[in-house]
Amino acid sequence: MAAMDLAYTPKVAAATAALYGKVASVVPRIEWPVHAPYVEAINRLKREKDAVILAHNYMTPEIFHCVADFVGDSLALAREAAKVDAKVIVQAGVHFMAETSKILSPDKIVLIPDVEAGCSLAASITAADVRLLKERYPGLPVVTYVNTSADVKAESDVCCTSSNAKAVVEDIAREKGVDTVIMIPDKYLARNVAKQTDVKVVTWEGSCEVHERFTAQDIESYRAANPGIVVLSHPECPPEVVAVSDFAGSTAAMISYVGDKRPKKVVMVTECSMSDNVAVEYPDVEFVRPCNLCPHMKRITLPKILHSLETMTTEVLVDPAVAVRARAAVERMLAVGKPR
Ligand code: 13P
Ligand code: SF4
Repeated sequence: MAAMDLAYTPKVAAATAALYGKVASVVPRIEWPVHAPYVEAINRLKREKDAVILAHNYMTPEIFHCVADFVGDSLALAREAAKVDAKVIVQAGVHFMAETSKILSPDKIVLIPDVEAGCSLAASITAADVRLLKERYPGLPVVTYVNTSADVKAESDVCCTSSNAKAVVEDIAREKGVDTVIMIPDKYLARNVAKQTDVKVVTWEGSCEVHERFTAQDIESYRAANPGIVVLSHPECPPEVVAVSDFAGSTAAMISYVGDKRPKKVVMVTECSMSDNVAVEYPDVEFVRPCNLCPHMKRITLPKILHSLETMTTEVLVDPAVAVRARAAVERMLAVGKPR
């Protein structure tokens, strides 16, 4: 699209006014003329190309509230990818999420606006590592966090997200008749889950570079500076952080907590954009905003989403032989809790 087509014209201003109204509390007015032409162009191109945008909760508000068709945590995005009714999926998230969408929707075109959008957890383990773990612990099922490559998922018995990790661990242990599972690659998620169940976990030395930076002292400081504040943390945080939080759960679970309980003041111990996105929906709640950015999530921007739709790049492909095995692990996860 020519640069002149991306001007903030009165027509663009009118077409996007309602969307700006939605995000006005978190997107400064001075920034809107930069975002609005992209928002308008993306929403138009989506219709022309029969595309949907699946956006993770860590996307910036102008993506999350203004161009996304579906937003959620990793589990919700995987569920949506499995049933989405469009030719093209644009994954506004990181690479493993786009691979999961492709695994679940092999006939769709799955695009990622920046192919370098990785994840420290996904980068921490390879399929060869998993094969070695299986040799070392024969007979133990492998529970793999979705924050991994398709190759790693393909070596696994079942996947999990932070929404369903405990249920998945207990389900597979019951089914295989074992008291221990291998849970990869997030050592903190694994330890946090191990505290909630009798199933023992063998873990891997992976961590999320965003959540591992939070400390128990951080939580103490938030509480000291904000008496009565409710502290919500993500289970990718170290167990000592979760231990001093009021609630720990996936990004979607944190959002539900705020929606259900409407705390007066809250801190979400997770990636920066979460608070902005949730604050838009709950103006009555005051958010204290510690900020740990995920550099991978932040690679996804409006200009890159537009470029992705215009050029239909970068398409995410998964080797069909790998995809079949990875799909079995993801589908097994999606079936947990459903009658078999
Ligand atoms: P959830 O949204 O599934 O809680 O995951 C958080 C995350 O770090 C995804 O990269
Ligand atoms: Fe990976 Fe952590 Fe970024 Fe999520 S927040 S994509 S787990 S590095």
